[in-house]
Amino acid sequence: MAKMITIGITGGAGFIGFSLANYLSKKKNNKIIIIDNLIRSNKTKKIIETKGNIKFYKTNIKNQNQLIKNLKYCDIVIHLAAINGTENFYTIPDEIIDVSSKGIINVVEACKRNNIQKLLIASSSEVYNNPIVIPTDEKVPLIIPDVMNPRFSYSGGKIFSELYSIHYASIYIKDVIIFRPHNVYGPDMGTKHVIPEFILKFLKQNQNKKNILIVKGDGNQIRSFIYIDDFLRAIDLLLKKGKTGIYNIGNNKPVKIIELINIIASKMDVSFSLKKISKPRGDILKRIPNIKKIKKIGFKNKLSLSKGLDKTISWYKKNYNKIKKNNELL
Ligand SMILES: NC(=O)c1ccc[n+]([C@@H]2O[C@H](COP(=O)([O-])OP(=O)(O)OC[C@H]3O[C@@H](n4cnc5c(N)ncnc54)[C@H](O)[C@@H]3O)[C@@H](O)[C@H]2O)c1
Repeated sequence: MAKMITIGITGGAGFIGFSLANYLSKKKNNKIIIIDNLIRSNKTKKIIETKGNIKFYKTNIKNQNQLIKNLKYCDIVIHLAAINGTENFYTIPDEIIDVSSKGIINVVEACKRNNIQKLLIASSSEVYNNPIVIPTDEKVPLIIPDVMNPRFSYSGGKIFSELYSIHYASIYIKDVIIFRPHNVYGPDMGTKHVIPEFILKFLKQNQNKKNILIVKGDGNQIRSFIYIDDFLRAIDLLLKKGKTGIYNIGNNKPVKIIELINIIASKMDVSFSLKKISKPRGDILKRIPNIKKIKKIGFKNKLSLSKGLDKTISWYKKNYNKIKKNNELL
């Protein structure tokens, strides 16, 4: 009989974490442990009602003893817990850096104490800041342009996590795999990311004749977006074939923010006028990952932006009243 594999996911109540927990729980012989303090999760009810081979612990990853106990029977840990969201970078930089630095130290300690030999760690595309090479591969230097700017509490925390993992964790843990996600999107991703933000604004204003959409900057910022199902398959590949080191995960098809808005508007059949406001200090102009490394172990983006947006818009339309009732609208 095949051995049971227990996978601990910190931040498992978040957008990526909960999708991943469900995805991995469907595989035979997997047992999932979710660790989350629910600080940023909108899935409290779903998490508490979770049954079967998913178990939930309400734990703050800053609590080392608790974390060591919760991860006791794990074979693999996927560390996702972090405070993200651009607005938070500017408002609670202290908490952001505290969670990422203590979090990685405690997660590694829990792996050491419990003899866990595979650790996957979520970094971020933010570590590249305004990259000097595009598409950006994993070897491009990481930049913190201004230590005084609170925005960099997030990427600074991620860079520290990477350094700690490579130079310390890999002494004790056989496989230490860092991945840098680039704009993951899909259904049920909360309200504070660009895609749901625009969809919800259009849904909210739909009845009005005049839709006014506020964008930060001129809308010419360039990004690429990866649909959650593609992202989950990338993590699955890393679990099976990843080696100690760093992997970008994303889509290499660029899109301007203004183009993204136009696509969403046309899919939702709404018209709008733009109101441009000044962009926050340190905003990024262009970011596209080079994904050759993850492609080498078999990764392929399957879903186009258009199809992914259809699925996402449809989910937000269906759940709009619930989101409104829960006061989650911005
Ligand atoms: N979504 C993306 O596009 C993206 C891009 C780059 C990097 N990432 C990284 O991927 C990971 C998952 O992202 P996500 O989009 O699912 O974010 P999310 O905010 O939806 O999920 C993060 C989870 O971590 C939990 N958490 C925060 N602080 C905690 C603490 N002290 N103790 C326990 N739990 C805590 C939150 O409650 C939340 O459920 C994060 O590390 C994030 O930085 C995501």
